[in-house]
Amino acid sequence: MFRVTRRYHFAASHRLHSEVLSEAENWRVYGKCNNPYGHGHNYVLHVSALGLADKVAGHAVNVPLLDGLVEREILKHLDHRNLNADVDWFGQEVPTTENLGLAICRRLKRKWREAFADDWPRLDRVCIEETPRNIFEIDAGEIE
Ligand code: NI
Repeated sequence: MFRVTRRYHFAASHRLHSEVLSEAENWRVYGKCNNPYGHGHNYVLHVSALGLADKVAGHAVNVPLLDGLVEREILKHLDHRNLNADVDWFGQEVPTTENLGLAICRRLKRKWREAFADDWPRLDRVCIEETPRNIFEIDAGEIE
């Protein structure tokens, strides 16, 4: 069994602001991330899959298939977008990187079997580096 991780990049902006909190509470919870006009990140997305090495091809994950899935379902919707205004994945949720990671994980799980017809590979983990110091990991097995 191999865990294969592929790394992707996208740039996006967001503002952390909850409609159910007062202005003062928003500032207390989110600090400068609550600034009205938002701010941007160069996000790094890691997608990890578990697979068995194919006897003929010798690889555990078909990388072009994974790249196509991530491009179609994730990157083209997020890159150079404002997560609050341009992306409708969050509903009433605040586009924190936790919520972004959950949305990415759910979208990949929903379309995974269309991209990979066999039992393997399986989506294992999604990890987002919002900044070099802020890193968020999600175990795909724990997400519905
Ligand atoms: Ni931010």
